[in-house]
Amino acid sequence: STELAGFHQSKVGATCASCHKNGMEVSDGEKEMNAACTGCHGDLAAVAEKHPAPKGEPNPHASHLGKIQCTACHHGHEKSEAYCLGCHDFPSLKIPFGGGAKPVPTPLPDLKSAAPVRTEAVDLVVVGSGAAGFVAAMEAHDQGVKNIVILEKMAIPGGNSQLAAGGMNAAGSVFQKAQGIEDNPKMMADDTFKGGKNIADRKLVDVLANESAASIAWLKDRGAVLENVARGAGASAPRMHGPKGGQAVGPYLSAFFRDQAEKMDGVDLRLNSRVVKLVQDEKGAVTGVLVEGKHSGVYRIDAKAVVLATGGLGANKALVKHYQPSIPESTKTSNQPGTTGDGMILGEAAGAGLVDMKEIQLNPTLLVGSPVIISETVRGQGAVFVNREGKRFIQELATRDVTSAAVSKQTGGTAFEIFDDNTRAKVGQLKACFELGLVKEGTTLEELGKNAGIDPKALAETIKAYNGYVDAGKDPDFGRPDIKVKLTGPKYYAIEITPAIHYAMGGLKIDERTRVLTADGKAIDGLYAAGETTGGVHGKNRLGGNSISETISFGRIAGDAAAERILKK
Ligand code: FAD
Ligand code: HEM
Repeated sequence: STELAGFHQSKVGATCASCHKNGMEVSDGEKEMNAACTGCHGDLAAVAEKHPAPKGEPNPHASHLGKIQCTACHHGHEKSEAYCLGCHDFPSLKIPFGGGAKPVPTPLPDLKSAAPVRTEAVDLVVVGSGAAGFVAAMEAHDQGVKNIVILEKMAIPGGNSQLAAGGMNAAGSVFQKAQGIEDNPKMMADDTFKGGKNIADRKLVDVLANESAASIAWLKDRGAVLENVARGAGASAPRMHGPKGGQAVGPYLSAFFRDQAEKMDGVDLRLNSRVVKLVQDEKGAVTGVLVEGKHSGVYRIDAKAVVLATGGLGANKALVKHYQPSIPESTKTSNQPGTTGDGMILGEAAGAGLVDMKEIQLNPTLLVGSPVIISETVRGQGAVFVNREGKRFIQELATRDVTSAAVSKQTGGTAFEIFDDNTRAKVGQLKACFELGLVKEGTTLEELGKNAGIDPKALAETIKAYNGYVDAGKDPDFGRPDIKVKLTGPKYYAIEITPAIHYAMGGLKIDERTRVLTADGKAIDGLYAAGETTGGVHGKNRLGGNSISETISFGRIAGDAAAERILKK
């Protein structure tokens, strides 16, 4: 082999057995192969320390993906490829023996009729290792379910949950109370329902709001503390909870869940394992799954209950086009490559109803040149939108659907967020944009215009007029509310942004116990679903912070409902 294995053979005299310590069979999750890597090289942290990144460049061994396995990027007998490149465009990032296949979205393979190479039986199968899946497994385990398998098709766990930056909405939490914030579930439910343009399933909205404070407490009891409370768009009280110091919520929770799953006896997380079919008995009850393992092929797991927690569909271009043809095909996505709507497809094939599938949320502010979304807080803290011609074109704080549509219509389908040091200092998340080299700057607005490719004179005039509106407390052009922050330097910044497919409001039809329902409302025995793969909670538009809240609350309910079924049997 001319790849990594060959190099190890020729350079350090390694044999097959040096890496294949337990024989030549490799498990789908490749845990034993990784143990061989770390046995010689040390763990990820040790490698990160030994190979610091050159200044201003990312260190792939110390990323926000946390403790990922070596084999997610380094392959023994095929070309390697940095997993990062499935989302990021890092021209300088080189991996030894590289040039292989980076993770790209792939449609669900049609393996329905494949003969399973083996079968096994467990109590509970959870499909997907995002927040909803992990929480369902943890709750079921706490209730006494002992034999749980979590299946994750990607080489790393975490899903889109791992990318969430903002926070988790909850009303009436201990942390709000400690800070004297007045809020209650009714206010949160009303905000959510209204934010979703009054078409959501009010019963599910009420569950989201009523369970939210208990979910914050559930996390806290287990060691994940979301004590920072901020106000998000469309919320009538500060209720977006995050970890201390404004850390991003997704990486924090994902690392926590991964550690918990490792510690729990009887919970087996299998990576590189894709569910390709739900197995049903003659009455339609779900009795297990067919799995395609990276190395083991197609096999069957029988289970007393199955929880689908497979996330949304934002990275599946064909499905997005099918359900919402108005979204231009060239539109990028903020979602990880595994977000391909599998749960919706698997569920539908098993008889489930789907709701609100055409409701796909665009987020107006994906950075051009990166998969990173910058949150509304940047605009909340003063940033102004302009187009390439240096003109404002929309009320910056309008909802995501309105601002996205407006950005799409500008020259080149992009626009710029303009801000100064004042906003930079207030919004911690901007650090990532600076680190990724995606911010243009100038000491004057004209200079900024030249550096960013915006008409310099028009830009200066626009901001001058805008500052005047701040003084007057009124925006006659677009009616921006809460117009308080002038742009005064000393430095001015521009980030180029473009709309991206961000979130699927629609999905599997469920009831308040997360039971998956047919189109006419009948529960499918043995099948539960939670998180972004379900529909009905967010209506036509999801408020920021409500999705992580949904994954924890409905994940808990799914774990509880599945445990109830399993332990009774
Ligand atoms: P995911 O976390 O996506 O997990 C699903 C998992 O299932 C994935 O790992 C996937 O690979 C796996 N899977 C899929 N199909 C199969 C299959 N057939 N077999 C096995 N495994 C499978 N929401 C908020 O509330 N607040 C925020 O601040 C926020 N910020 C965000 C920022 C970004 C960049 C993105 C993309 C989303 C953000 N969201 C936010 C939305 C939120 O993160 C997601 O909606 C939520 O995490 C979904 O969680 P989940 O557990 O349902 O699915
Ligand atoms: C942010 C590096 C993998 C999506 C960043 C940043 C860096 C970085 C340096 C900015 C600073 C930070 O928040 O840490 C890397 C490296 C990777 C990797 C080295 C590989 C090991 C990925 C993958 C995805 C992704 C696979 C998509 C699935 C994002 C997103 C952000 C980000 C959404 C913004 C997060 C935030 O603002 O909190 N990454 N990345 N990255 N990356 Fe990655």
